[in-house]
Amino acid sequence: MRTYRFPKLGDVNKLTLTEEPPAKPGLRQVLVRLRAASLNYRDHLILSGRYRGRIAPNLIPLSDGAGEVVEVGSEVTRCQVGDRVAGLFFQTWLGGELVPSDHASALGGPVDGVLTEYQLFDENGVIHLPEHLSFEEGATLPCAALTAWNALFTQRPLRAGETVLTLGTGGVSAFAVQFAHAAGARVIITSSSDEKLEQARKFGASDLINYRTRPDWEGEVLKLTEGRGVDHVVEVGGAGTLQRSIAAVRLGGAIHLIGVLTGGQIDPTPILFKSAMVRGVYVGSREMFEAMNRLIALHRIRPVIDKVFPFEATKEAYRHLEGASHVGKIVIAIA
Ligand SMILES: NC(=O)c1ccc[n+]([C@@H]2O[C@H](COP(=O)([O-])OP(=O)(O)OC[C@H]3O[C@@H](n4cnc5c(N)ncnc54)[C@H](OP(=O)(O)O)[C@@H]3O)[C@@H](O)[C@H]2O)c1
Repeated sequence: MRTYRFPKLGDVNKLTLTEEPPAKPGLRQVLVRLRAASLNYRDHLILSGRYRGRIAPNLIPLSDGAGEVVEVGSEVTRCQVGDRVAGLFFQTWLGGELVPSDHASALGGPVDGVLTEYQLFDENGVIHLPEHLSFEEGATLPCAALTAWNALFTQRPLRAGETVLTLGTGGVSAFAVQFAHAAGARVIITSSSDEKLEQARKFGASDLINYRTRPDWEGEVLKLTEGRGVDHVVEVGGAGTLQRSIAAVRLGGAIHLIGVLTGGQIDPTPILFKSAMVRGVYVGSREMFEAMNRLIALHRIRPVIDKVFPFEATKEAYRHLEGASHVGKIVIAIA
């Protein structure tokens, strides 16, 4: 089988294609022939050596992949040969609260990922794909989609008629727009580009703000909400956008802290004046993934895919991610 590995991190030129034999599944393991993988901003952080967290030596990168089960161990009960599945980002976070050992089970970081033609998973570490999705679409779900779903529907569940603010048009934000729209919410989105904003309108955003031409975008959000502010912010920007997000949220609203795209300093005082809830979101569990798949299947949601690269052009896919010209997800076809 063909497998990409990072013998060293630093830049995409270190990515090395190797030829290796596929492993045999143990008693409760499944062997998946991967058909597609998708990139996340995390993969760019990992490759550049800026990711905070343990990285396995000689890593097979990428957390998000989908494919078909081609062999199962003799005690496997959750899957059969031929099932269409995706791997869980946290292989061991099946439900309940995240525990420290789950951190160590994240694909494409502390453990090998999915940029390979075959990969072994514990039978608990895969989830069946919604039927209407292709492998390429299914491969976008494990990190970005689940993070957006966890933000919107777990600790402070979104209600119909509420307003959601999403920042930028990357993978997490595109899913947040689609899910919030499907749930009956109004979606305000910011982006660096008018063209990207018009694309976002097509998949569910109703109010568009260009943060390059409107750097004080929180004022525009307040204007759009008649001074009230939004009920939820899907905060992918990090320290450089959080102060404005705090200004844009309503009294008692929720800010779901997801991203680290920008740096800066934060004054926390307005959080208490606003009685806002600021909560960290770290991908999600299999239980959440199952609930998300029900929403995706019910509304026949199709992930927003910017571009699909062939396996041989994986380095170009990484460069495309770094260039940040994409809207939604960047996918690698492994067929
Ligand atoms: N906590 C978690 O579990 C979790 C899970 C997934 C991702 N993340 C984090 O969430 C962030 C987004 O990840 P992703 O995979 O969705 O990234 P992505 O697909 O690479 O999207 C990045 C996009 O963010 C937008 N952006 C950049 N700077 C911005 C700013 N100052 N204000 C508003 N938007 C900005 C840009 O879109 P425009 O050009 O449209 O502005 C850019 O294309 C990353 O920091 C990632 O590490 C965290």
